Amino acid sequence: MNPSSNLHNNLRQQFPIFGQPINGQSLIYLDSAATTQKPKVVIDSQIEFYSRQYSSNHSVHFLANQCSLMVESSRQCVASFLKCESKEIVFTAGSTHSLNLLANAFLFNFLESNSNLNLTKDSRILVCIAEHHSNILPWQRLSKLIGCQLEYFGLTPDGQIDLLDLESKLKSNTSKVNLVCVSHVSNVLATINPLDKICNLSHKYNSLVVADGTQAVSHLEVDMQKLDVDFYCFSGHKIYGPTGIGVLYGKSELLNKLSVDQVGGEMVNQVELLGNNYKSYPWKFEAGTANFAGIIGLKSALDWFVTNKVEIEKIEIQLQKYLHLELKKIPDLRIIGSDNPKNRIPLFSCYLPRINSLDLAIELDLWGIAIRSGQHCTGLLHEYLDVFSTWRVSLAAYNTNEDIDFFITKLKQVISKFG
Ligand SMILES: Cc1ncc(COP(=O)(O)O)c(C=O)c1O
Repeated sequence: MNPSSNLHNNLRQQFPIFGQPINGQSLIYLDSAATTQKPKVVIDSQIEFYSRQYSSNHSVHFLANQCSLMVESSRQCVASFLKCESKEIVFTAGSTHSLNLLANAFLFNFLESNSNLNLTKDSRILVCIAEHHSNILPWQRLSKLIGCQLEYFGLTPDGQIDLLDLESKLKSNTSKVNLVCVSHVSNVLATINPLDKICNLSHKYNSLVVADGTQAVSHLEVDMQKLDVDFYCFSGHKIYGPTGIGVLYGKSELLNKLSVDQVGGEMVNQVELLGNNYKSYPWKFEAGTANFAGIIGLKSALDWFVTNKVEIEKIEIQLQKYLHLELKKIPDLRIIGSDNPKNRIPLFSCYLPRINSLDLAIELDLWGIAIRSGQHCTGLLHEYLDVFSTWRVSLAAYNTNEDIDFFITKLKQVISKFG
């Protein structure tokens, strides 16, 4: 462990996955930005739901009522986590689903022209070049279907969002509704973007901000009121929760005006031969039978996270500093993204001349070390930076200094083999 506290030890021991060997070695899991491991309390919530509480919330019997209460209590828990109202929380399958839901809802608003929240052919959609494909492709398609312009804003040489570039593009907007799509934290650069400033600036020029919080929520305090962001999303599996569950936050007045992207059971009050009466938000966006286990597991994960937040933050700061120092000692190793320890999360995307990132990841896997290699769903960013591919090491509070030491030793061995 590090300046090893019993609390850190105790925290790591809550993750059963570390009790088993991988390729005959202890698991060194350095891929938490892809997905985090799960504490026992989250795993237990799934076993408990399927073995003792399982039901759908559609009916009126005991288990169904209990299921409804658990779903709404989870919504309340997410709302207090994001510091917003619970009716502003839509459950989705994850960030990708949240962003597609939103883009499709804007498309239906455009097609049905049923509110003053319509994008038009004159609108602009501004997307940061560093975005994950999940926050690019839905907007690319939407702009094509609506016939409006999609533009990218760039970065400064030190990997920060170029606010001047953003402003110059915002200034040329003429439409009443425009969108700015940006991540709160980049999954490659690790930079924490100044989302409050971006919202402020965008609002001055009739633009709504869609923020992808996927990499932010497990490392930062996120407050929808303070950020004044219009839409925000995250995936449960990146914050110690189950896969297949995520969140879309939207300001009340916006969710109210948005069309639904899917129609079907559960989202409607009354169906007539030629018309219908949808439920109000957020339920109008949740057609069909929900992922109850995921919703319940998300609450369990957020409760666990909030309870351990102070310790998690302390551990991550120390681990990040240690890993950063060790990486900087390796000759020729390039880290892309933020160098400012106060403005980043604990992940490092790197490359080494002469060593293919895939080869590196495969070699390290032989030692039970899990890292990510490739473009991390940010092809445009890699092209913009003129880097073919990178390997990414990402930390969570269950990691230790020993994990980092072992990784660095094996990294050096691979470098001397290939370099
Ligand atoms: C910044 C960012 N946005 C969006 C996503 C997509 O998340 P999901 O695959 O859980 O929908 C990811 C996943 O890696 C991500 O890192």
